[in-house]
Amino acid sequence: MSDLLITGARPYGGDAVDLLVRDGVVTEMGRDLDAPDGVEVLDAGGNVLLPGFVDLHTHLREPGGEESEDVATGSAAAALGGYTAVFAMPNTDPVADTAVVVEHVRRRGEEVGLVDVHPVGAVTVGSEGVKMAELGTMARSRARVKMFSDDGRCVHDPLIMRRALEYASALDVVIAQHAEDHRLTGGAQAHEGVVASRLGLAGWPATAEETIVARDCALAREAGAALHVCHVSSAHTIGVLRAAKAAGVRVSAEVTPHHLLLTDATLGSYDPVNKVNPPLRTGADTKAMREALAEGVIDVVATDHAPHAAQYKDTEWEAARPGMLGLQTALSVVVHTMLEPGLLDWRGVARVLSERPAEIAGLPDQGRPIAVGEPANFALVDPDGVWTVRGAKLASRASNTPYEGMRLPATVAATVLRGRITTRQGEVQA
Ligand code: DOR
Ligand code: ZN
Ligand code: ZN
Repeated sequence: MSDLLITGARPYGGDAVDLLVRDGVVTEMGRDLDAPDGVEVLDAGGNVLLPGFVDLHTHLREPGGEESEDVATGSAAAALGGYTAVFAMPNTDPVADTAVVVEHVRRRGEEVGLVDVHPVGAVTVGSEGVKMAELGTMARSRARVKMFSDDGRCVHDPLIMRRALEYASALDVVIAQHAEDHRLTGGAQAHEGVVASRLGLAGWPATAEETIVARDCALAREAGAALHVCHVSSAHTIGVLRAAKAAGVRVSAEVTPHHLLLTDATLGSYDPVNKVNPPLRTGADTKAMREALAEGVIDVVATDHAPHAAQYKDTEWEAARPGMLGLQTALSVVVHTMLEPGLLDWRGVARVLSERPAEIAGLPDQGRPIAVGEPANFALVDPDGVWTVRGAKLASRASNTPYEGMRLPATVAATVLRGRITTRQGEVQA
C-alpha cells in the first residue's frame, strides 16, 4: 500500500488527468494536482492508463519445473507485461492438487510481491482424470482457490466433470477446462488440415475441442455451475459458445494471443517454438477468434504463458513440449490484432485484459474502473512505442517466444500494484 501521484495519464486513451493514490487507493483525480510532501511522482507523459491486466492462464512451473520458470521470474515477466494478477496453472511437480501446494504457490507470490499470484487447483488427483481432488479444502485454504483445472489435460470422464461442476456450483468457484478429447487427438502434432498433411504430422482435429465444449456446456447448465473454456482455437467452437450463452449457460471463454495472430503456416520450418496445445490453426480460425473477441462471445485474452527450458524445445518436432511464452508480448499482440484494425478501442482492451478476467475469477480488487475510491492497480501503456522481441531479453527463465525478431506495437511504460510501481520503462522496481 503506497502513496503515489501519477501526472498526465490518459485513462482508457481519453483526456489527460492526474491521479493521487493514498494507501493503494485512488483518492483524487483531476488536473494539476499538487504532490503532497514525500509522495512519489510518476510522470505518465500522456500515456494510456488501463486497469492492471489479469491473466487467467499462466504456467509458473513452481514447484518442480524451475529450470523453465519460477514464481519470481514469472512474476517479473507478468509485471513487465502490465499484469497485476495472474492465475498459476496446477500442472507442476507435484501437481497443485492439495492445500499444501496451492498455499506454497500463493505464499511464494506474496514473497515476490510483483503481482498477485492466484493458484489454480487441480480438478482431479495428479490431474490424472480418475479421482476428484479435494476442491473444498483448496477453496477454503489460505490460498482461497477460485479456479480449478487439469490444464495440460482435459477432464475427459463426463461423470467426473459433472461432479466437479456440481462441487463448483456449491463452492462458488470456476472449472476451467482444457477442451481436448484425447481419443481424437492421440499422437497429434499439428492442426489437422492441409499443412499437417503436407508436413507428415499427425493431426489434432478441431472437433476434439468443439465436442468437449458442447458436452461441458450441457453439464454446466445442468449443474448451474460456472464453466470457463481455456484457449479456444477453432472457429467451430464459437458457434457452440454463442448458443450456450444465448441459452443462459454460465460459460466464459478465453483466446490466447498466439491464436489471435499465428497460424499453421508457421509450421513449415519445423521449428518447435511454434508447437503448442491446442495447435495453431488456420487464417479462418484466427479471423473468427478476433471477431468473437470483439463481439464478446470470447470474453478474455489469457496468455497460456508456457515457458519451456531449451532442453525441452530445442529438439525434433515430435519430442518437443508444447507451449510458448506470452506474458510480455500479450498486450502488443492484442494491440496489433484487435486495436489497430479497429475491432477494439482502449476500453475494449481493458475489458478483455483486465475487467472480464477479474469478474470471471471473482477478484474484487482487480479489473476495477479507474476512479476515486478504487484500488490503484494500473498498466501504463505507451501506444506509440514499438519494440523488437528478443527471447533472451525477456524476464522469463526460458526464451521460447514465437515472436522472436518481430517488431510489435505498444510498450508497457509502468505497472502499478496497489499504488506501488512494480515496473518502469521495462525494468522491475525493487
Ligand atoms: O501448449 C500447452 N502448454 N498447452 C497446455 O495445455 C499445457 C501447456 C504447458 O504446460 O506447457
Ligand atoms: Zn491447456
Ligand atoms: Zn495452459
